[in-house]
Parts: sequence; C-alpha cells; structure tokens
Amino acid sequence: MIVTRAPGKLFIAGEYAVVEPGEPAVLIAVDRFLTVRLTPSDDVGRVHSREYGQAPVVWTRAEGPEHSVNIVVEHEPYDYVVSAITLMERLRDERSLPAHYFDLHIESDLDDSSGRKFGLGSSAAVTVAVVAALDEFYEMGLSRTERFRLALLSTITVAPNASGGDVAASTFGGWIRYSAPDRVTLRESLERHGVTKALTSPGWSPHRVDRLPDPSSLELLVGWTGSPASTERLVGGVRPPSGRTASPYESFVDESRDCVDALVECLRADDGPRALEVIGRARRLLQHLGETSGIRIETDELRLLCDLAEQHGTAAKPSGAGGGDCGIVLAPADAPLQTLLSSWEARDIRRLDMSVQHLQGAT
Ligand code: PMV
Repeated sequence: MIVTRAPGKLFIAGEYAVVEPGEPAVLIAVDRFLTVRLTPSDDVGRVHSREYGQAPVVWTRAEGPEHSVNIVVEHEPYDYVVSAITLMERLRDERSLPAHYFDLHIESDLDDSSGRKFGLGSSAAVTVAVVAALDEFYEMGLSRTERFRLALLSTITVAPNASGGDVAASTFGGWIRYSAPDRVTLRESLERHGVTKALTSPGWSPHRVDRLPDPSSLELLVGWTGSPASTERLVGGVRPPSGRTASPYESFVDESRDCVDALVECLRADDGPRALEVIGRARRLLQHLGETSGIRIETDELRLLCDLAEQHGTAAKPSGAGGGDCGIVLAPADAPLQTLLSSWEARDIRRLDMSVQHLQGAT
C-alpha cells in the first residue's frame, strides 16, 4: 500500500488579487491533513471517499481523441480526484510506462465530523496527495516542483480561475509567498501539447514560490464560522468582466500587492507589531473589495470573529475567499487569548486547533 498525505492551508494576505498572474499572496500550510491510501487492483479503479457516500466512484481507461488516455467515470461528476487521476494517467502514457489499475481511499481532517468543510483547501490537498501517490505507484521520480505543477494543471482543468496558492502551500509547506502562473496559457499548452510539454510551458513565467521564515514574535489562532463558502462563486463575483484594468478592481490589486510586500518584509525582519498593522490593512482592503463588488466576503459571522479578536489586541481577517469558512488571528505573545477564546465560545465561534506545518525534503 502507498500512503501519501497533504496538509491544509490558510491565506494570510493577498487573496483575490492573487488570481491575477504574478500578483503575490502569503499562505501557510497547517498540520491538518488529507490522506490517500493506494492499493493495486485488477479490473477497474475505485475511489472511496466520504464525499461520494457509501459507493465508490468506479473508473476505467479509454482511448481519447486528443490524448491517448481518458478516464471514464461511472455516474459521478468530473472532480478534483478524477482530474488528478486523468492527468497522471496521461503523463504515464506519455512516458510509456505500463498501466495498472488501483484503488484510492481518501480520508480528510479538513472537515468536521459531519463532513462540513473548514475551508482549509481540501480540493488542493486531495489533488496534491493523489499526484504524490501516483508518482510513487508508477515510480516516476518527480521533483516537488513537478508535483506542484502537475497538481496545479489538474486543478485548473476543474476550476480555471484558481490561483494555485493552496496547491503551493500544500506542496511546499511552511510560510510561503506565492504568485500564480498564466493559467490560460497553461490550459492551452495542456490541451494542445500534452502534460509533459505543459510542465515547461511559457505560462509558468509569472509564477514564483518563495519560502518565508516563521515569525517567532506572533502566535496563530484560527476561528471557524461553521458556514462553508463557495470560493468559485465569490471569485467570479469580484473580478469585473472587463478584466483587471477596470477600476476600482485595479487599485485593489495594487494595494493588495503593497500589503503583501509589506507583510513579507515584516516576516523577514520578524517585526511582529508591524505585521499586525499590515494584517489590519489587509482586512480593510477585503472589506472595501466586498463593498465595491457587492460580494459578501466578510459575513456577519466573520465580522464578529474578527472584531472580537481585534478587541483583544490582535489582528484578524477572513482567510481566502471569505463568505464563511475560517478567520485567522495573529496575536502578539502577550495577548489575552483565553478571554478571546471565551468570547468566541459565547458566540458559537469554534477555535480550530492547528499550527504551521513544515514539510521535509528538497524542492
Ligand atoms: O476560500 P479559499 O480558502 O479557497 O481561498 C480562495 C482564495 C482566492 O484568492 C479568492 C481564490 C484563489 O484561487 O486564490
């Protein structure tokens, strides 16, 4: 049996603007995981996941018109897992490796006991873990950067606008500064030239991942609103149809970049007090984006979560698209966290216990 696991993530700053190629965000990986167990099988492939209910998703291979391998799924929609299997099977085929069937069992700590997602990047984590499992199964010997690129190519065939920040955090671990590639060019490369060529497409050029140091002067606290949000719907509502040059969206993107640059500087200098100011600025920026676009990024629950945190001398903001999910709090070492936690509890805001997750190994 092959077992792989990928961590969840949180956005610290730069969400929304990061969907524009080359625009930066700061993210962390957290010590909650999605686990994939792969076992070889003979006749067909099966995917067992709580998301699919009792019956596994069953798939087989078929010849396709554009690529030599297509994955045919019985009765289930095309999703992140099927997309990752399809991409990796195409790569296997391009490398002329022999095909085998396998079963995947997926388990996740990224949702609660009734299956409600926390907003910790479960789609990215499942993609990263499936890519890693198939890399090992077919003995492809991929580098971490190649696995990241494959996971992102797989993600954008399901969600074309996704920045891939969550895929990067889940692949590289720790604190990172991330900027996205040009996914339109990547999708074209993938469709026209196949997986191997798409791995070195010019579309990657605006993209970077830089590791950042852990700030020793700050503590992380995460609150969960209990309401899962739909990222795709929110992102679609914020970006104007005319693209990034439309104001006030363009000034939002500029200000977001300033904010992320300032945060990166603070993290490199371990300047906790200034980092808190920057997080406050990032929260106001998202509030303003919500007001100008008419999209509820900061819901009443998120507002309460963040306001209570700010009243206790910390900095807080929604993580990611908002609309529910989690709020992050960065606190100075001496902040009265116990009283903050009691005030959250009194308002039904649940603390999710987690810390930053580093991953071993070369990139
Ligand atoms: O809501 P989340 O945690 O999935 O994050 C979404 C972040 C966005 O910047 C809004 C979209 C993206 O793909 O980066």
